[in-house]
Amino acid sequence: MNAIEELLKKQGYSDKGINLYINKEYFGEMKHPSINYSYTGPCGDTIEIFIKLFDNKIIDVKFLTIGCVGAFIACSALTSLIKGKLLEEAEMINEKQIKEYIGKMPPEKLDCICLAKRTLNKAIKKYKCTTLKDGIRRLKD
Ligand code: FES
Repeated sequence: MNAIEELLKKQGYSDKGINLYINKEYFGEMKHPSINYSYTGPCGDTIEIFIKLFDNKIIDVKFLTIGCVGAFIACSALTSLIKGKLLEEAEMINEKQIKEYIGKMPPEKLDCICLAKRTLNKAIKKYKCTTLKDGIRRLKD
């Protein structure tokens, strides 16, 4: 275990959470996403999510964050949980399931999970509104 991993362990993160932070599997940008949304929470941290859909299924997902360790871990967990899911299934994943996926986390970092989930919810909501407006426009044409 290296110095950063030891520090994170002392702060109260689970081994799974530490691995999510170290590996950052879905961290990065995506070209031509179906959904792209950026949200800044009350703590001042920003999360951006990119989703690629095929037949309403999440075939790829990425995130960026200007945020704390908790934000990286929460986003990594959330993106791992939603990849391969239908959009409606991804929407149903709640904060408790994200927390269970991560395991132990410092109590003051639980808000980071809420911020990640809120960003996803807002991204999906914007996508659905845009899709609906496009459908209405096509009906009027
Ligand atoms: Fe803002 Fe962690 S404190 S996301």
